[in-house]
Amino acid sequence: MGKLQDKIVIITGGAAGIGSGIAKAMVKEGAIVVIVDLNEDTGKNMEKELQAISPKSMFKKANLMDRDNLETIIYTVVEKYGRIDVLVNNAHASKQKTISETTQEDLDLSFGTGFYPTFYLMQAALPYLKESKGHVINFASGAGLNGHETQAAYAAAKEAIRGLSRVAANEWGRFGINVNLISPIANSPGVEAWAKAQPKYYEEVKSRIPMGYFGDIENDIGRVAVFLASEDSKYITGQTIMVDGGSIMLR
Ligand SMILES: NC(=O)c1ccc[n+]([C@@H]2O[C@H](COP(=O)([O-])OP(=O)(O)OC[C@H]3O[C@@H](n4cnc5c(N)ncnc54)[C@H](O)[C@@H]3O)[C@@H](O)[C@H]2O)c1
Repeated sequence: MGKLQDKIVIITGGAAGIGSGIAKAMVKEGAIVVIVDLNEDTGKNMEKELQAISPKSMFKKANLMDRDNLETIIYTVVEKYGRIDVLVNNAHASKQKTISETTQEDLDLSFGTGFYPTFYLMQAALPYLKESKGHVINFASGAGLNGHETQAAYAAAKEAIRGLSRVAANEWGRFGINVNLISPIANSPGVEAWAKAQPKYYEEVKSRIPMGYFGDIENDIGRVAVFLASEDSKYITGQTIMVDGGSIMLR
């Protein structure tokens, strides 16, 4: 028996990067994982990889920017599996710009892929999470905690997600649901693109990681998500767990 045996887990942005690392760590603990992603190619490949371990796991293609898709994701999962135990709101896309450069379009991208899907998926999943006394895992960022320059739209959406998560932790604790955040640092396609766009900032971030490396999406981040999705973390709620090699809180 795995720590997440037969638990039904939804992971947004689960086709690549940290979301895929979490999916891989969770199926190894017995979970049935639904990865939701925009990218059909990486989604289908990841579906095959997950099904080799957890045959009932699946990929659902959806653009989280389209609000109509959000309730549909929840209902599709409930119709197929009859329950939801864990919701992982991992997907987030953004442009790196200063406040002066940031446009309405940039804000819409960051809030439309990060904050709004987190909010509406949590809202639609609540009745099912109440039944399962489930777990929500949201995503924060050191960029939001530190307010790093050029991250105006991203940092604002990330801190909105942290505020929402604390409210949910207060409102939903009485239902036996815990709500926590991971603030990660890990190698992912998103980080590779950012390293190319801002090599100086990338090197600066790397030099500030006491553990000395960018985390592994499955072994460093995925294993913590397994803990937060399991009964072992039941008495932790409303917390931002820094899974970043010590880089934000120590430096
Ligand atoms: N990687 C890091 O070091 C780091 C640092 C701080 C915070 N984070 C946060 O961790 C989470 C995962 O980061 P990552 O680096 O793995 O991201 P990533 O960009 O590498 O992967 C994101 C995934 O989300 C999917 N996605 C993007 N827009 C979508 C949309 N509109 N609809 C559906 N799917 C969509 C992408 O296709 C991709 O598979 C994010 O919330 C990110 O902000 C990551």
